[in-house]
This record gives sequence, structure tokens and C-alpha cells, in this order.
Amino acid sequence: MFPALLAGLTLLSGAAAEIAILYPSAGATWYMNDTVPLNWTLTQPQTDPKEFRVLLSGGGMAGPQEIAQQVPSANEQYRLLLPQLNPGDGYTISFVNTTNEAQEYAKSNAFKIEQGIAPTTLSSSGAASATRSVNNNVPNVSIPPR
Ligand SMILES: *[C@@H]1O[C@H](CO)[C@@H](O)[C@H](O)[C@H]1NC(C)=O
Ligand SMILES: *[C@@H]1O[C@H](CO)[C@@H](O)[C@H](O)[C@H]1NC(C)=O
Ligand SMILES: *[C@@H]1O[C@H](CO)[C@@H](O)[C@H](O)[C@H]1NC(C)=O
Ligand SMILES: *[C@@H]1O[C@H](CO)[C@@H](O)[C@H](O)[C@H]1NC(C)=O
Repeated sequence: MFPALLAGLTLLSGAAAEIAILYPSAGATWYMNDTVPLNWTLTQPQTDPKEFRVLLSGGGMAGPQEIAQQVPSANEQYRLLLPQLNPGDGYTISFVNTTNEAQEYAKSNAFKIEQGIAPTTLSSSGAASATRSVNNNVPNVSIPPR
């Protein structure tokens, strides 16, 4: 029993990622005209960093761009408004030390950034008025005599 327990402990303490980014997930889309969501989990809340900065990379940018400062890691979620960016894919975010951006805590998979607003789930009531308007847009065409 002891060897199994020890092996378990070793596995835990050897886990490289302290913070795991859940969203944006691989292939997800961030819409620029809205606040964008991110979320993550802590693996060791006692020892994980208390806060981090969020850097955005890729998408043809010259270098990483900071999009959030001093995000409290215990929240495990955050929303932010993106700066002006080029829409595209291959973007990634990383969580880094607030005073030393070379120290990376976590990195996301590649995702997309697009123009527009995140689609919301539409209520079904919108379809009801469709029957009335059949001929509304037919122009008054005078039929030429033959
Ligand atoms: C993370 O955010 C995504 C997108 O908003 C959501 O679908 C997912 O349920 C969230 N996961 C957690 C664990 O909060
Ligand atoms: C962040 O970086 C600073 C400066 O290198 C260092 O003193 C500090 O311990 C780091 N914080 C964490 C949580 O690793
Ligand atoms: C998004 O914002 C840009 C810049 O403000 C604007 O040109 C564009 O029309 C907006 N798109 C949508 C879908 O609101
Ligand atoms: C068609 O003609 C009627 C009567 O002149 C007018 O009230 C109506 O606005 C016209 N519709 C269009 C689409 O031009």
C-alpha cells in the first residue's frame, strides 16, 4: 500500500501545470465586439500563484500583447474587452507572473478571434410574425402590354 501511495504523491507534485486553461479551448472563437470569457482551474490552490497577467500571442502580431493585469487566480474565470486586433486564428493566451512575463504559468491551445458579437441563443417567439408579410416587398410593377 505504501508504494502505491508514494507513487500517487510523486505524480501530484510532479504535475507541471499549476493552472490549466479551460477556455478558450482549442478551436474556440472570441468575438471582438463583446467581452470575451476565459476560465481555468487551479491544481494546487495553496501554492498556485495568487494572480497573473494574461498575454495574447499569435494571429500575426509582432509580439505578445497584454490583455489583462493582476487577475485573481482563485476566481477561475474572467471576462475582458479585447483591444483592436486583426481577426484570425492561431491566437493563444498565456498566464504569466505579474512582474516577470518570462515566467509562464499556463498556455492555451490555439483559438480564433472574429469580428462581431457572440451569438446568443434566440428565443423561439421571433418566428410568429412571419405569416402576415407575404406580399409586403413586392414592388408595384406595371406589366407592359403585349
Ligand atoms: C468555461 O467557459 C466556457 C465558455 O464560456 C463554458 O462553456 C464552460 O462551461 C466554462 N467551464 C467552466 C468549468 O466554468
Ligand atoms: C514572480 O516573479 C518575481 C520576480 O522574478 C518573483 O520574485 C516572484 O516570486 C514570482 N512570483 C511567483 C508566484 O512565482
Ligand atoms: C464591431 O466593431 C467594429 C468597430 O467598432 C465595427 O466596425 C463593426 O461594425 C462591429 N461589428 C458588429 C457585428 O457589431
Ligand atoms: C404600391 O402602390 C400602392 C398604391 O399606389 C402604394 O400605396 C404602395 O406603397 C406601393 N408599393 C410599393 C412597394 O411601391
